Amino acid sequence: MKNILNTQWIKNRYSGFCGGTVYKKDFVCDKNIKSAVLEVTALGVYEAHINGERVGDFVLAPGWTAYEHRLQVQSYDVTEYIKENNSIEITVGQGWRFRSTKGESNEYLGHRDMALLACIHIEYEDGSEQDVITDSSWLVRESKLRYSNIYNGDIYDATFSASEALPAIEVPMSKDFLIPQEGEKVVENERITAKEIITTPSGETVIDFGQNLTGYVEFAIQGKAGDEAVIYHAEVLDRDGNFYTDNYRGAKAEIRFICDGERHVYKPALSFFGFRYIKLENWPDEVKKENFTAIVVHSEMRRTGQFKCSDDMLNKLYENIIWGQKGNFLDIPTDCPQRDERLGWTGDAQVFVRTASYNFDVERFFKKWLHDLAADQFDDGRVPHIIPNSFSYFDDGASAAWADAAVICPWQMYLTYGSRDIISDQYESMKQWIDWMHEHSKDGLRDRDGHFGDWLGLDAHEGSYKGSTDENLIATAYFSYSSALFLKMAEILGKDTREYSYLPELAASAFRREYMEDGRLKVPTQTACALALYFNLTDNPQETAKQLNELVKESGHLMTGFVGTPYILHALSESGYVETAYDLMLRREYPSWLYPITKGATTMWEHWDGIKPDGSMWSEDMNSFNHYAYGAVADWMFGAMAGINVDAENPAFRHIIFRPLTDSRITWVDASIDSRFGEVRSKWVTENGETTYEFTVPDGCTATVILGEKSVEIGSGTSTFRQ
Ligand code: BGC
Repeated sequence: MKNILNTQWIKNRYSGFCGGTVYKKDFVCDKNIKSAVLEVTALGVYEAHINGERVGDFVLAPGWTAYEHRLQVQSYDVTEYIKENNSIEITVGQGWRFRSTKGESNEYLGHRDMALLACIHIEYEDGSEQDVITDSSWLVRESKLRYSNIYNGDIYDATFSASEALPAIEVPMSKDFLIPQEGEKVVENERITAKEIITTPSGETVIDFGQNLTGYVEFAIQGKAGDEAVIYHAEVLDRDGNFYTDNYRGAKAEIRFICDGERHVYKPALSFFGFRYIKLENWPDEVKKENFTAIVVHSEMRRTGQFKCSDDMLNKLYENIIWGQKGNFLDIPTDCPQRDERLGWTGDAQVFVRTASYNFDVERFFKKWLHDLAADQFDDGRVPHIIPNSFSYFDDGASAAWADAAVICPWQMYLTYGSRDIISDQYESMKQWIDWMHEHSKDGLRDRDGHFGDWLGLDAHEGSYKGSTDENLIATAYFSYSSALFLKMAEILGKDTREYSYLPELAASAFRREYMEDGRLKVPTQTACALALYFNLTDNPQETAKQLNELVKESGHLMTGFVGTPYILHALSESGYVETAYDLMLRREYPSWLYPITKGATTMWEHWDGIKPDGSMWSEDMNSFNHYAYGAVADWMFGAMAGINVDAENPAFRHIIFRPLTDSRITWVDASIDSRFGEVRSKWVTENGETTYEFTVPDGCTATVILGEKSVEIGSGTSTFRQ
């Protein structure tokens, strides 16, 4: 990354232009080239072309980091692109830089300029070198992309021709915050052809791609000069089958294309959308399916997890969880990809991290995001609600379960991948968070408000998004849990832990004192019981589990929100209530994991009743149909149904604990995780009352198989058991 440090930041002369600004430089190379490397970054997002050819396949580069502290630089080998006479053009747009702040109804923070920094370093065969660097000799012009914004979409005017280009302005901005590319690059993945053209009851022309996804549509269009066609995006149709966009809130999510009479094939370069359907307005050509293709865009991640079983609805659920992850792992883990948020909500990432790390290899992805978390952490140790933290107000951080991402995400990276470097990188950050919780508690009890509680729990009081579990009960529970995980990591790193060793029990005993009596929760909620069990806070697990089981039986279904949902099945099945856990897992009526599938879901919903049984929407305000959080249940599908578990003493599946928990309603399960050491697989099938288990252990690894009361040690290869 050394060459880029000798260049100048440059910017556009016209402030207030929110489209694609093109920076251009012509240069000559009149000797034989040995190598040429382009190093580039931008405040905004960029796409580079040399001699008309697109450089690399990184979409929305340089990605999203804690811009105040860290900005990634990409490096491309461009040797093949360079000729004698060359021209480099780099288009820069707003991307995440102008992220609208919540509550400001999508106004842009216009004072934040976009800027470009680039350098082509050329080495010639005769040993000489040449640097083409950004400076005031570059020319700048506006492009046909008149407007581009990740929430509102694009305005592209094919008839526009720029007036004379003007020299770029050099900006004396620091380069101290530059870092080499750290995360996975964002790339185009599947191409999905249009499934159906629909004319809705209200006469709209809608195209269905059959899958809720994140990315954009590539379309062919001609029309006459001046025709203005519009594409709108939506995740669902409403009860009557009409196009529905209320849940996008302030995000317009549209593409306006002004025709010039020539045929164009267009796709957005600097924006993205979350959608399954598009609506065409003023379409100037005959609408044909072959002219529309949806392109799926997300961070490059290797698929590692597979899950299948005898229940097709569960298989569909798992597929939806995979799509939820693809849709929300676009450089950072986001809550949702469609409405005016698309933010790195820490709580969402924390509850989903285990599932995420089984489904795909996300080590590098989380490593980068956790560095951003540490960079944006407040000086006193509080962790902002979203990372990168782009809230200009309201965020004082420190919400239980959200801020705990600082501890839980590194721990999971260690469990799944054995990433010692991540826990070591994050050590100071987590220590600060633990210290802050300690300082802001009384005898282990947390008593400050400002939490999101059991967000979207069904036992919420009228008019509230927060489930009824006491916020400080949750906060005290997480204080104990996070400090226990912190201690384990500190020990792994060989740190002196004396100052911290009593914290988990300090908080746990405060929890029991304040919220429990004889092993039962004083104010009984499913979430409170699940936390007491899963975080080992209760001194009478049998009684607490009994209470949880009673609560589930009483209501007949889940009542949990973001906090309780990831743990409730584990809490039940690990306490012997396997059948109740399966009852919840297999329930098809509202509310349940499978209910959305009966309503045609192809991704995970934010709310249990995003679409209510009568077909109406539960709300306009908080109703994403692509929110991965409740997809965290896949870690129970892997951990309990297939019984694949990591041993914290021997992480990364070097030693595996196989402990499948069967149920008569499921006749077979086949799941695998492609671990750092190779494939870990668990299969079982029940026939004529007998279950046959097959466990695969990678070379060099070992496993403990636990079947009922029996426990057997096995080595690498595939072993079979019957019972
Ligand atoms: C987001 C959530 C997030 C929450 C915090 C919402 O607007 O979409 O997923 O965790 O706010 O309460």
